[in-house]
Amino acid sequence: MSSSTYELGVVGLGVMGRNLLLNMGDHGYSVAGFDLDAGKAESLKKEAGSRKIFATSDLKEFIGALKSPRAILMMVPAGAPVDAVIRDVLPHLSEDDLLIDGGNSFFKDTNLREKMLSEKKIFFVGMGVSGGESGARHGPSLMPGGNKDAYDRIHPVLEAISAKVNGDACVAYLGPSSAGHYVKIVHNGIEYGLIQLLAEAYDLMHRGLGLSNEELKKTFEEWDRGELKSYLVEITASIFGQIDDESGKHVIDLILDTSKQKGTGMWTAESAMEMHVPTPTIDTSVVWRNLSSLKGERQAASQLLPVSTPTFSGDKRAFLESIRNAVYAGTIITFAQGIALLRMASKTYDYQLNLETVARIWRGGCIIRAAVLEKIRNAFGKQPDLANLMVDPDLAKELLARQQDLRSVVRAAAEMGIPAAAFMTALSYFDGYRTARLPSNLTQAQRDYFGAHTYERTDAKGVFHTHWGSVENVPQPALAGKERQTL
Ligand code: 6PG
Repeated sequence: MSSSTYELGVVGLGVMGRNLLLNMGDHGYSVAGFDLDAGKAESLKKEAGSRKIFATSDLKEFIGALKSPRAILMMVPAGAPVDAVIRDVLPHLSEDDLLIDGGNSFFKDTNLREKMLSEKKIFFVGMGVSGGESGARHGPSLMPGGNKDAYDRIHPVLEAISAKVNGDACVAYLGPSSAGHYVKIVHNGIEYGLIQLLAEAYDLMHRGLGLSNEELKKTFEEWDRGELKSYLVEITASIFGQIDDESGKHVIDLILDTSKQKGTGMWTAESAMEMHVPTPTIDTSVVWRNLSSLKGERQAASQLLPVSTPTFSGDKRAFLESIRNAVYAGTIITFAQGIALLRMASKTYDYQLNLETVARIWRGGCIIRAAVLEKIRNAFGKQPDLANLMVDPDLAKELLARQQDLRSVVRAAAEMGIPAAAFMTALSYFDGYRTARLPSNLTQAQRDYFGAHTYERTDAKGVFHTHWGSVENVPQPALAGKERQTL
């Protein structure tokens, strides 16, 4: 064992914690790991080999092994486990020590934890970590936020272990307080949207066009060689090729069609609703996970409300190409929604996010890494205040060139009775965002009719109320408080 020489400690030696430590060890860092489970500590010690990695299940020994001021990365599940670790380590910490939460924590919890710890003069960094097991081992995308000085202390190790794209590290300080965890939540919301688009594309190609698993594998492989190049498309191709050892069948056909969720997609949708930011494709992806879990109800309903076997009567090849283009358009639109949410959150919570930086560190290591992020990065590089990705001139051109494909996919899905909510919401968002006059004038009229909620006019400034249905149909300036205006 150990004098106080280890540069960073990790609490939680599950797959993520263990792999991050090995990654740090590969880069020459001397690091220590702690887990209450002695078996995990032992197996890390064995795996560490000649790397400068120490592991223990004794908390005091772990803390004692760390160089002061200490830096401790918590890699435990979000929620109560994070608070439990903080509670356990806190009595052993000294002023200026730094705790980093690398889990998928709810951003409002991060704010509370930072406040509580800063009162004790302990620094706190909330950091999104993306890339799963292999990302942690070979290069994740890291999304840190919180105290900048504290971040600067750990920047070298984070930069060393992160994914690199053309030599650029996929890590950057994102902003104060919960900026890092907020960006990670939205990363996951976008992940939900992209996953849902791919699921719907699969359904259309499999049930609609009758493509076999082998054909699906080839199709996704081909997509991954073009503008759709991305981690999710790549793993999707590989999934369709996976054979079950025991049965010899395709694994995909043996998997129950109910998708689980840990909550980050829902937090994205909730936060968007709270700030009145439209993110319909992300919202619908959460809805679809919920709908998928109603397996029993769906099975029962399929008897009473039978769906006829979908048949596609048009040009199969052309439709396949439309699906590809619709996935690409849907991808841009999903990113547009998520990034519009980041833009609003940055204002609301004063994160001072640089959206070009966010796109830059998402290009490698994380689950949503995709070739299109280079274009997204350029869009915000050119116009940091871009209101919405869809109005970047280059991306707008790409969307306009593919909008008919998106329409064909939505039309065919509706005709065949194949649900395609992500494509549909993506198209509606695109159409809604570019419609100068929506029918919301009627909504306002109705609200004013039944609740005297007032409305604004196109021909005069102020707030108005109409005595609806009365003979004398003269709009009245609303009497509500200071809002009173005259025509
Ligand atoms: C990542 C992933 C990771 C996790 C998802 C799964 O960035 O590495 O997003 O954080 O796999 O949170 O989320 P669900 O269980 O909600 O699908």
